[in-house]
Amino acid sequence: MPKKYQNYINGKWVDSSSGELYENRNPADNEDLIGEFPKSTARDVEAAINAAKQAFDSWRLVPAPKRGEILKKVGDILTERKETIAREMTREMGKVLAETRGDVQEGIDTAYYAASEGRRLFGYNAPSELPNKMNLSFRMPVGVAGVITPWNFPMAIPTWKIFPALVCGNTVVFKPATDTPKTATTLVEILIEAGIPEGVINLVHGSGRVVGNAIVSSPDIDLISFTGSTEVGIDISEKASKTLKRVSLELGGKNAVIIMDDANLELALEGVLWGAFGTTGQRCTATSRLILHEKIHDIFVKLLVDKATKLNVGNGLDPTTDMGPCINSAQRDVVDSYVKIGLEEGAKLVCGGEKLTTGRHSKGWFYSPTIFTNVTPEMRIAREEIFGPVLSVIKVKDLDEAIKVQNNTTYGLSSSIYTNNINDAFKAIRDIKAGITYVNGPTIGAEAHMPFGGVKQTGNGHREGGWTVYDFFTEWKTVYIDFSGKLQKAQIDNN
Ligand code: UN1
Repeated sequence: MPKKYQNYINGKWVDSSSGELYENRNPADNEDLIGEFPKSTARDVEAAINAAKQAFDSWRLVPAPKRGEILKKVGDILTERKETIAREMTREMGKVLAETRGDVQEGIDTAYYAASEGRRLFGYNAPSELPNKMNLSFRMPVGVAGVITPWNFPMAIPTWKIFPALVCGNTVVFKPATDTPKTATTLVEILIEAGIPEGVINLVHGSGRVVGNAIVSSPDIDLISFTGSTEVGIDISEKASKTLKRVSLELGGKNAVIIMDDANLELALEGVLWGAFGTTGQRCTATSRLILHEKIHDIFVKLLVDKATKLNVGNGLDPTTDMGPCINSAQRDVVDSYVKIGLEEGAKLVCGGEKLTTGRHSKGWFYSPTIFTNVTPEMRIAREEIFGPVLSVIKVKDLDEAIKVQNNTTYGLSSSIYTNNINDAFKAIRDIKAGITYVNGPTIGAEAHMPFGGVKQTGNGHREGGWTVYDFFTEWKTVYIDFSGKLQKAQIDNN
């Protein structure tokens, strides 16, 4: 009998009011049933929101350093169980063990950062323009946060949102991706074990259409933090605007690596393989375009294809595996349809381009590492986010053209340049339109204590990670204290 999982609402594990469940299976082996999870309803969401709303009254009054101590404990538990959790995550979403270990580590880093922020949460003060008066400002919690997360970083991304939300004094309704409900359950179990009071964190499993929409449309949700596709982000933004809630969106990417003719090609090769095929290309920061200087184009493509063809695609729990499966059958179909689009557009397929369906690949959603050359910037495979192991190579004649191609996208998350020319590097840093630029590193590898997010249609101006996420999860309260004993009028008395 498969294990049946529940929602967590108001301090209790409960079934969904629908009584219905859905199956969660291993993407590397679809005969491996991980468990059954609730198909929740708008009623379940309402119960979770009510619990979070009520809990906010007391949670906001717990001193921030005390809230931080709970997150310190969460970090300790994650550290202790890192290996077990990483294995469960690979089983649930497919990426190789080294990467799920990294995913848990990012959660640990975020927990300790949030714990320390409990003793910071700095405000500003400034002199008053009037005598015997003091001006201060404080960060206040906002209220109930709706947290909606993707499956590609099933631990790290929920922690990027939930931990800062909590340490700032907000309460949370958490809807994880339907592909990774087990990891979300583990995270909530750890928060409970670390001492989070009832109602402060609530977990509701289920679809975006039902559960996500109910969260987004509720007048009792004060802020939404979402990571996912641009299409869904726009829909959330529209729906949330009806109640003027604060929304942080971290959306798509079409990230490119530029390799100049003076670059260290061995280094660049390793970076491109990692950026394009790590997490099976299923990262918002994945390298999905490669912009090559014409002088090194042919040699680099040769080296790259040689390595990419040898990547071992398989079950992420097997230590010899380099690349795991796609998350599910539908996503693999999307990848395959883009390969067909690329061929129709006239790009040249030089590696991969097929579903792997036989032998040890027969039970999972495997796809071969895929590379297209002769790609022009206007092709769909050069513009649209694919979210799979597909790399589009574009040839350019110089840095100006490389930057132009790099910026020829509606997205602006991550970017990279490999060069040993310091002037070119600085020019790229200045002129590339993206939230993140790497020099001599791939497009992936963001650290938890630095701002994370993008420009253009990658988001709506907020940043996760680091100190910047604390702006999103707090509201400024400005305080004027007049100790003159008389009525003083700003803008009037001192003119
Ligand atoms: C994502 O791409 O979805 O920089 C998040 C990275 C990770 C986070 C990625 N630390 O690749």
